[in-house]
Amino acid sequence: MLLLLAFCFYLRFIQVTPLALDPCSAYISLNEPWRNTDHLFNESQDKPMCDNHLNGEWYRFTGMAGDAMPTFCIPENHCGTHAPIWLNGSHPSESEGIVQRQACASFSNNCCQWSTTVDIKACPGGYYVYRLTKPDVCFHVYCGHFYDICDLMECGGTCLDTGDCVCSSGTVLGPDGQTCLDENECELDNGGCSEICINLKNSHRCDCGKGRVLGKDRKSCEDIQGCQNSNGGCSHTCAPLGDSYQCLCPRGLVLSEDNRTCQVPVLCKPSSIEVAVPKDLVGGLELSLTNSSCKGVSNGTHVNINFNLKTCGTVMNVVSDKIIATNLITGMPKQTPGSNGDIIIRTSKLLIPITCEFPRLYTITEGYVANLKNTPLEIMGRNRGTFPFTLEIFKDKDFDEPYRETLPVLKLRDSLYFGIEPMMRVNGLETLVESCFATPTSKNDEILKYYLIKDGCVSDDSVNINFKGSSSPTLQVPVFQFCRQTT
Ligand SMILES: *[C@@H]1O[C@H](CO)[C@@H](O)[C@H](O)[C@H]1NC(C)=O
Ligand SMILES: *[C@@H]1O[C@H](CO)[C@@H](O)[C@H](O)[C@H]1NC(C)=O
Ligand SMILES: *[C@@H]1O[C@H](CO)[C@@H](O)[C@H](O)[C@H]1NC(C)=O
Ligand SMILES: *[C@@H]1O[C@H](CO)[C@@H](O)[C@H](O)[C@H]1NC(C)=O
Ligand SMILES: *[C@@H]1O[C@H](CO)[C@@H](O)[C@H](O)[C@H]1NC(C)=O
Repeated sequence: MLLLLAFCFYLRFIQVTPLALDPCSAYISLNEPWRNTDHLFNESQDKPMCDNHLNGEWYRFTGMAGDAMPTFCIPENHCGTHAPIWLNGSHPSESEGIVQRQACASFSNNCCQWSTTVDIKACPGGYYVYRLTKPDVCFHVYCGHFYDICDLMECGGTCLDTGDCVCSSGTVLGPDGQTCLDENECELDNGGCSEICINLKNSHRCDCGKGRVLGKDRKSCEDIQGCQNSNGGCSHTCAPLGDSYQCLCPRGLVLSEDNRTCQVPVLCKPSSIEVAVPKDLVGGLELSLTNSSCKGVSNGTHVNINFNLKTCGTVMNVVSDKIIATNLITGMPKQTPGSNGDIIIRTSKLLIPITCEFPRLYTITEGYVANLKNTPLEIMGRNRGTFPFTLEIFKDKDFDEPYRETLPVLKLRDSLYFGIEPMMRVNGLETLVESCFATPTSKNDEILKYYLIKDGCVSDDSVNINFKGSSSPTLQVPVFQFCRQTT
């Protein structure tokens, strides 16, 4: 019997998380003095720090790092790094348990250039623990802050002798009854702002989205009417176009999705990320990635940097339905031969964050008769990037020898052995076969489908699914026949 079936698999990368202990006792202390908001980062003296060793554990700020994360915007070049991370939201009370808050990294006058979610818990004893994930890019650091200790109430003639603390305006008493935490004015009525409210230490300010500016009242936002106003919101050139205007980019750069910001072109391939930086933009700078041994190569017009998901310090992150790979290109002046190797001059800085997004869900389909080539199956995606998988049918349950040159001729009660393997493994992620169905012809979009796996569960008792190694599912399926007559 010749198989005239098509099998279709839906695969999703799932996150593997370890078992949880009580975070109030099982935490890791962050106590580095440079982590404190009072620590200014001076580029000519220090190397920027990066929290890329954090891995989703629970952390507590102690010692010279501070007591808790700041809940107001920290400007760039604080906390020992370029982009300090602060908490956009209030600390919880003990009774609230574990809460989620947005954490923002500020950079180039944007208080929330990058953001992530952190879990926070108020512990008995008046301290907080935070579940912190690895930032997408370097150089980002989670900040600690020393909060003020409240003054004992100065008793005039009228007060009761309770010994209660009083915090100054703009701050509220923390759970330990001593620390004055910042009051987040933005949580009440968005701080009166019509768009973005930014909490500052003991105060707040309003801001507007791209292409809009703050009005005279400093609260509402107005549209930018043309290029004369804030350059039309364009990062580079603004040019009038009929009644409106458009943003233009210098040669070699491309407009990003917001139609206003120019960016370097990035090509996201599963085995390589290719960045071409126009030579005009970098001048005499030498470009390197987070791992500084990965350097750019000049071809006269461009400096090209090629790397992949596993090399050069690339950070992988999972955000809802996407896998995001990031790295950072840094430009430094070249060291001239003969100069003292110890002295480096950092006259100008060039930082280009590189991001590639890959979907987490994949459809793999094997029109079995038509496709018996020894080539990996390439899955087409939209213009972002996808990971390829191989799908092979093996001769027996050892999954060693695939059918390649010859078509298998199988009888009912024989078994089919499927092996699915992602060509690119992502640490901390496993592949889940979400569904698998067969159709009676070599097309996978037939109306008649028979599900072997549905919603991650085996829906036919005879199917045997196994995980050989860490993330390559194998499937054993007894041969079956569709009752309908096929031609
Ligand atoms: C950074 O350090 C250099 C060298 O010690 C010093 O001259 C400069 O003023 C410092 N810059 C800032 C912003 O503190
Ligand atoms: C902080 O969070 C609020 C509420 O989620 C949001 O509206 C605001 O834009 C955030 N602030 C910044 C600076 O992004
Ligand atoms: C950018 O421009 C394109 C083409 O003119 C348009 O389809 C798209 O909606 C614009 N995007 C934004 C964010 O304005
Ligand atoms: C940086 O990359 C080089 C060459 O690829 C590698 O040998 C080295 O271990 C990497 N360093 C770090 C800190 O990852
Ligand atoms: C240099 O590299 C860029 C990007 O890969 C390419 O577009 C350009 O044609 C190359 N220039 C030369 C002179 O080879």
